[in-house]
Amino acid sequence: MQTQVSPQHHFDTLIIGSGLAGLTLALHLAQSKKVGVITKGALLDGASGWAQGGIAAVLSEEDSPEAHIRDTLIAGAGLCNEEVTRYVVENGPRAIQWLIAQGVPFTREHGSETGYHLTREGGHSVRRVIHAADMTGQAVQQTLSQKARSHPNITVLEHHVAIDLITGAKLMHPDKNGNRCYGAYVLDKPAGKVNTIAARNTVLATGGAGKVYLYTTNPDTATGDGIAMGWRAGCRVANMEFIQFHPTCLYHPHAKSFLISEAVRGEGGLLKLPDGSRFMLWHDQRAELAPRDIVARAIDFEMKKRGLDCVYLDISHKPADFLKEHFPNIYSRCLEFGIDITRQPIPVVPAAHYTCGGIVTDWIGKTDLDNLYAIGETAHTGLHGANRLASNSLLECLVFGQAAADDIVNQPSKPAVELFPWDESRVTNADEEVVISHNWDELRRFMWSYVGIVRTSKRLQRAQHRIKLLHEEINEYYANFRVTSDLLELRNLVDTADLIVQSAMLRHESRGLHFSRDYPELLSEARDTVLKR
Ligand code: FAD
Ligand code: SIN
Repeated sequence: MQTQVSPQHHFDTLIIGSGLAGLTLALHLAQSKKVGVITKGALLDGASGWAQGGIAAVLSEEDSPEAHIRDTLIAGAGLCNEEVTRYVVENGPRAIQWLIAQGVPFTREHGSETGYHLTREGGHSVRRVIHAADMTGQAVQQTLSQKARSHPNITVLEHHVAIDLITGAKLMHPDKNGNRCYGAYVLDKPAGKVNTIAARNTVLATGGAGKVYLYTTNPDTATGDGIAMGWRAGCRVANMEFIQFHPTCLYHPHAKSFLISEAVRGEGGLLKLPDGSRFMLWHDQRAELAPRDIVARAIDFEMKKRGLDCVYLDISHKPADFLKEHFPNIYSRCLEFGIDITRQPIPVVPAAHYTCGGIVTDWIGKTDLDNLYAIGETAHTGLHGANRLASNSLLECLVFGQAAADDIVNQPSKPAVELFPWDESRVTNADEEVVISHNWDELRRFMWSYVGIVRTSKRLQRAQHRIKLLHEEINEYYANFRVTSDLLELRNLVDTADLIVQSAMLRHESRGLHFSRDYPELLSEARDTVLKR
């Protein structure tokens, strides 16, 4: 029988993840609460810091909330929650004002002291994407992380990996509410030990799951941890089949994953075959500015039909000064690989980019468990439907970060609790770490081949069979050996892959980002895929 002990840390709110969702929430909450932010790498790691194009919001007189809502609903292919969409769009300008007040240096309109330059991306009917050149995420995250680090009410724990949530059901104690979250077990990587962190409220802000796929635009942190932890703790998960493939990731043997922003197409970039001919008009009258699902599928189709390794994105017809000013990061990174975008087309391929589904939440980020929230890419709020509109993701992080903070601030305090420590009595150090690297590689390869842009029922079955075998192996490994961050991530990747495949098998139609050769039609009724353990 284990004895209960005081946790190593106790916070009013524990935020797992330091991307835009996590930091937005932390800074809003810290005005009145003690907040702990844990993050599995350094504070700036995560997808938010990699964001290029910008943040969509209604900021000009040519635009309107109705137009932004309409564009979001069209991209979402019948599955966006219209009320949530309205809520996010209407709160967009306020969220941007908050970022400006924090000191984010957004790019200004040429020669203007007050106005900001707005760029355009696929699926947007007007220019509405505010940005900091082509490094929006870096500008935002650097500004917010400096504030978070110096705030007296925020404790930042870097290189701390959340393993699992502590729920009343897990504690099996009569006076603990089975449906409540009490904190998390967290691996302190530098110390090599597992801490118990107790919190009145716990927030999953762990980002997406792009690393499930072999080719992805995502950083290494995107291993679906929050989705897997929430799922294991009993939360519902929705619409996991809708994985967004970004059409234009740089194709170069030494570029691990480098995105060529959609803003390049927004500013006039053209997609071309190796012989220089354009092809997007054969697929959609909006050509290069069609929503992402259509552009990614068109590229995939042309590559497979012609046996190509890549297609080309050409913006060399624009003045060189314009390109260097608007895309300084893309210009210099491509130049490092010998590609001068002012004179040459850029070789590109689609890659897994965004997880539209996630932990089911309500309008303020609340999950099915008491005192557990999920915000940002980890969550399914209903905003993105079957296909996220470009640059709506950072907006969602901002709006839901604020909404969750407002709710948490207004809650009555609950007493601190005693929790069980992490039990390591039956495990030893791993003897064969090759199992982890091999399984990790295998998973990402078959997910790319069988559960990619175009799916079939047979391929999904093959993937499901392999996931079952991996599950067995990893669960056995997890039960017998001390946890490492690689093992934890692999376990989460396999759980997330399982949710993607299960959801894809349940959708008997092609809608938005989910395209099945066996079910090419669109059903008349649009339904979410909701999984419950
Ligand atoms: P993230 O920013 O990914 O942060 C997740 C955090 O959780 C990280 O700090 C990570 O270390 C931490 N974490 C994860 N698991 C654990 C764990 N177990 N324990 C502790 N910590 C953990 N969207 C737009 O709207 N506009 C854009 O221009 C844009 N450009 C993009 C460009 C690229 C290359 C990529 C990859 C994405 C882009 N997106 C863009 C999407 C957008 O960046 C993400 O959806 C968004 O940043 C997600 O924010 P987040 O806070 O939810 O997660
Ligand atoms: C991009 O700059 O193309 C990414 C925008 C997004 O993912 O929203």
